[in-house]
Amino acid sequence: MTLAGKRVLLIVAGGIAAFKVPELVRLLRKQDCGVTAVLTKAGAQFVTPLSLQVLTENKVYTNLFSLTDENEMGHIELSRAADLVVVAPATANILARMAAGIAEDLATTLLLATDKRVLVAPAMNVRMWLHPATVANMATLAARGVAVVGPDEGVMACNEYGFGRLAEPPAIVAAIAALLATADKPLAGKHILVTSGPTHEPIDPVRYIANRSSGRQGHAIAAALAELGARVSLVSGPVGIADPPGVEVRHVETAEQMLAACRAALPADAGVFAAAVADWRVANAADLKLKKAPGAPPPDLALTPNPDILTTIAAPGPLRPRLVVGFAAETHDLLRYAEDKRRRKGCDWIVANDVGAGTAIMGGTENEVHLLTEAGFEDWPRAGKDEVARRLARRIAEALA
Ligand SMILES: Cc1cc2nc3c(=O)[nH]c(=O)nc-3n(C[C@H](O)[C@H](O)[C@H](O)COP(=O)(O)O)c2cc1C
Repeated sequence: MTLAGKRVLLIVAGGIAAFKVPELVRLLRKQDCGVTAVLTKAGAQFVTPLSLQVLTENKVYTNLFSLTDENEMGHIELSRAADLVVVAPATANILARMAAGIAEDLATTLLLATDKRVLVAPAMNVRMWLHPATVANMATLAARGVAVVGPDEGVMACNEYGFGRLAEPPAIVAAIAALLATADKPLAGKHILVTSGPTHEPIDPVRYIANRSSGRQGHAIAAALAELGARVSLVSGPVGIADPPGVEVRHVETAEQMLAACRAALPADAGVFAAAVADWRVANAADLKLKKAPGAPPPDLALTPNPDILTTIAAPGPLRPRLVVGFAAETHDLLRYAEDKRRRKGCDWIVANDVGAGTAIMGGTENEVHLLTEAGFEDWPRAGKDEVARRLARRIAEALA
């Protein structure tokens, strides 16, 4: 795992072991890992903001109520802008405040507001480490998913011996790398089925009924899920775009073929049904090309319903994916139709988009969607289809966690 381009928010609390922080920062910067440091009031007694500013090549934050800082980057944004939050050294005091959910200074406010994983590197006197209060606080934090590195055993600054020494900087860097690797691949070990594109329903060997779906959104979703570590089976109708990298692709033409390929791909942890499947196919499709004869009426095409892939896969049963996500493309009354579709088809979520005239969504590169779940609906801002895909993939990862 390379740390290049990753961003760590490093919270330095007031322990004597803070003297090792410059070395930790140096090792992270050597790997091109971005570091933003936040010092507690006590932390600033042990390592100066100036030395951390020079080493991190970044502004150092200390104060929650700084108008300038709040103007440049709000404290909530600061808590979200990193890939990982690291507390090193983590004092008994900051661990207690984290366990209690206290937000009384910048460091603890960020720790409460962050949506990222948190790694703590405790360092304290062995009695403090073994105190039932600290033991209980560590158990609370572990149960909430806070990761820990160290403390190590050895002689402490206070000349006592035992567990309480800050883990060595290379070990902290290794723990950061390991966490970022899993944080990056939250869908590792998960199998997700995605459908994409239109279907072609033959009229005769050369003509077909189709729709304007380009497959861009479905393909972007497959790619975004694969990026998060999922094994992705993509069942694609006929599209003019390349197969996404790192994805197993099954190319089909008709709705019936798409359903068969979906069934063959199960079991899956989640299914995302982004394909624009034709509702009807031609019941009397000709085996030979229909010929135009002078004066003869045009052929009468009898339509028959296609199998409903979403309803079929979302039906209760041992092979139903844990999370079934359908798509609704409507030209009017979008949310009403979409919620009705979510209930009727038995799926968990619906990604609804308005494909009315003038939206340039069907076949375009941007999308403006609403996510409907059991909890209600969310309006997502108009964005590139890749970005919508990444956002949806993150939400799927959270739902499957
Ligand atoms: C010289 C000195 C060294 C200290 N070392 C530690 C330490 O290694 N671990 C610890 O938990 N507290 C240590 N403390 C106590 C913390 O600084 C104190 O609990 C402080 O309130 C921590 O604030 P913070 O958690 O907001 O940084 C030390 C205090 C002093 C005066």
